[in-house]
Amino acid sequence: MIRPRRNRRSPAIRSMVRETLITPADFILPMFLHEEAEDTPLASMPGVTRWSLDSLLREAGEAHALGIPAVVLFPKIEEVLKSPLAEECYNDAGLVPRAIRALKAAHPTLCVITDVALDPYNSDGHDGVVWRDERGEVTVLNDETVAILCQQALCHARAGADIVAPSDMMDGRVAAIREALDADDFQNVSIMSYTAKYASAYYGPFRGALDSAPKDGDKQTYQMDPANAREAVREALLDEAEGADVLMVKPAGPYLDIITRIRDTTTLPVAAYQVSGEYLMLKSAAAAGWLDERAIVLESLTGIKRAGADMILTYFAKQAASWLR
Ligand code: PBG
Repeated sequence: MIRPRRNRRSPAIRSMVRETLITPADFILPMFLHEEAEDTPLASMPGVTRWSLDSLLREAGEAHALGIPAVVLFPKIEEVLKSPLAEECYNDAGLVPRAIRALKAAHPTLCVITDVALDPYNSDGHDGVVWRDERGEVTVLNDETVAILCQQALCHARAGADIVAPSDMMDGRVAAIREALDADDFQNVSIMSYTAKYASAYYGPFRGALDSAPKDGDKQTYQMDPANAREAVREALLDEAEGADVLMVKPAGPYLDIITRIRDTTTLPVAAYQVSGEYLMLKSAAAAGWLDERAIVLESLTGIKRAGADMILTYFAKQAASWLR
């Protein structure tokens, strides 16, 4: 008789036949920061904090010491600095460029990734420039936005970012950013493209953390329809052709099939973003005593990696890394 259970008989045997291993080196820690001197624990994301610059350096150092190779920065921008054309996003003296410089100085081996999109800087709360017609109907302009994203990416590169990650879903932005970086001698700055970013309800807590929810309308004219999978393959082929170095799927847990399809479509590394709503669901169920936090978090991350992700952006990065040591 054929007995698959023989391969599950003991921890030793299970450890030899295990197909997927997660390690701290798989994780990227998303970090929120603001201009204030005090840290703010986030009401919408228990266990996550928006950091002052000093605390950001300390926390990033701790994460790196746990074996986490990279962080990605998400700023909360003061209301007075927001504008329709988001000029603050390429201010070399702005919060993000200062944070990049400080991080690279304090932790030279830490990989610093930045988010490229206008939503924290844009008075309209959209990832791109908003145009309103006579009836007040909102359009998010593509090519005008891409020109600004290029300036934002260059600003991050000048400050020392290792990877820029456009999360805006405008068409043609990977090629445009690649060209802009190369023209300014930043050939070595990588692009991690949010290739298949869905118009998802799972981003709710994040928008609360940064005050970045769109003022009018929603993001469905640029982020993808959760019902579509073939379209993700189309986006992946385009981003690869445009010169992306890493392709990302977001959210992660409810989109494991998309991770697998993109894995099978490209030879590029694939990243997956376990987003704020996914974090909150696991965290709140664990806090209520309904789920075993350590087991559920490690299982969710293993599932994302098993689906085909080479790297995982997760708010659990530090916790998971400490459990895995
Ligand atoms: C916006 C951006 C969002 C997230 C990352 N970058 C929100 C959005 O698209 O509205 C979401 C991350 C999360 O929910 O954890 N450029």
